[in-house]
Amino acid sequence: MNTQAKPHSLTTAASPVGPHQGYMPGFGNDFETEALPGALPQGMNSPQKCNYGLYGEQLSGTAFTAPSHQNERTWCYRIRPSVKHTHRFAKIDLPYWKSAPHIDPDVISLGQYRWDPVPHADEPLTWLTGMRTMTTAGDVNTQVGMASHIYLVTASMQDAYFFSADSELLIVPQEGRLRFATELGVIDLEPQEIAIIPRGLVYRVEVLDGPARGFVCENYGQKFDLPGRGPIGANCMANRRDFKTPVAAFEDRDAPSTVTVKWAGQFHETKIGHSPLDVVAWHGNYAPVKYDLRTYCPVGSILFDHPDPSIFTVLTAPSGVEGTANIDFVLFRDRWMVAEDTFRPPWYHKNVMSELMGNIYGIYDAKPKGFVPGGMSLHNMMLPHGPDKTAFEGASNADLSAEKLEDTMSFMFETRFPQHLTAFAAKEAPLQDDYIDCWTDLEKKFDGTPGKK
Ligand SMILES: [Fe+2]
Repeated sequence: MNTQAKPHSLTTAASPVGPHQGYMPGFGNDFETEALPGALPQGMNSPQKCNYGLYGEQLSGTAFTAPSHQNERTWCYRIRPSVKHTHRFAKIDLPYWKSAPHIDPDVISLGQYRWDPVPHADEPLTWLTGMRTMTTAGDVNTQVGMASHIYLVTASMQDAYFFSADSELLIVPQEGRLRFATELGVIDLEPQEIAIIPRGLVYRVEVLDGPARGFVCENYGQKFDLPGRGPIGANCMANRRDFKTPVAAFEDRDAPSTVTVKWAGQFHETKIGHSPLDVVAWHGNYAPVKYDLRTYCPVGSILFDHPDPSIFTVLTAPSGVEGTANIDFVLFRDRWMVAEDTFRPPWYHKNVMSELMGNIYGIYDAKPKGFVPGGMSLHNMMLPHGPDKTAFEGASNADLSAEKLEDTMSFMFETRFPQHLTAFAAKEAPLQDDYIDCWTDLEKKFDGTPGKK
């Protein structure tokens, strides 16, 4: 009698799950992807000869010797090695894209500032010519700090490519749709999504639906990472599976082309005869990624008071001082407000960190008027701020039943370094001269009477 059990019959998944064709889920995963079958070597990185006559090349996003849990690199298998994608460099000027340190002696950065949306220009602007620096912080040469930008893009880059050796770019669209055709694949991006383009990655930006406007945080320092959740545990806030990295895509196209390089705060151009987006297959953990902000699961107080705004951190870029970020990216999205006997909007405060905010859509609860979609505000290091009179009186007298804060999505780029305004931010952008007056009407209520509220 045969006592051997019959093998179980397993049912195999037929196709990827979910609506994200063309992307792989995960944050910082070790991905592998190939646009042609057999293009990716298996079991090794550097075969004597790569399939299809491809060149093997490593892109290192961290030092070779970075600790294992921080080490990031990607192996690319490409039509030409990257040394063919640059030639001699010539300096060019992109006068609106500034890098720290950039301290204009004619500009006062000490103040509470707010801007209306920067309007689009009459002339066509690309990702490069349409970048408008609002603030800079730290020092690009020592790789600390950041810059904040507004982009105004109406024209696609044609046979033109870019990479920043200075920074990774966190992109927050507010209007229009853009395509980022990168060496490692294609990211399509729309409002309520964000993307991170790593330092050194070559790409081209096309307008899918214009005009396009949004915000950019240029991170000179260590890469953005997910914050530790502490006692919150393994779930909520930004979940790893909701980050999407594109599958491999390449173009084999010969055409006179320009590559622009941002390096040590300066811009350079080099001419080549083909597209540098020629990576047929790759594997590794240094790659572009996008994330849908609508998948962010906010955590908050469920009885009284509310936690510090850091409870809404989506991504954090460390500074080397534990718990003190080079940059935190913080999201204020729709959520339930349920705290009892509590002043529910953000409280009045002064902060050692410098807070730059942008409105993606809707109404922000601490400023019901004046902070509009596409607009920005800056509350610099140790400058007090908080709700305006309308918000204060409303929240102080509100019926505190459970209330859903709807039609709202704003964010903050918060850095440990003071943010310096550019001349564009101070003189050309639509600065609201009367912003500081939003606190003028706040009354002194104290008259020494106990029990008065
Ligand atoms: Fe604040």
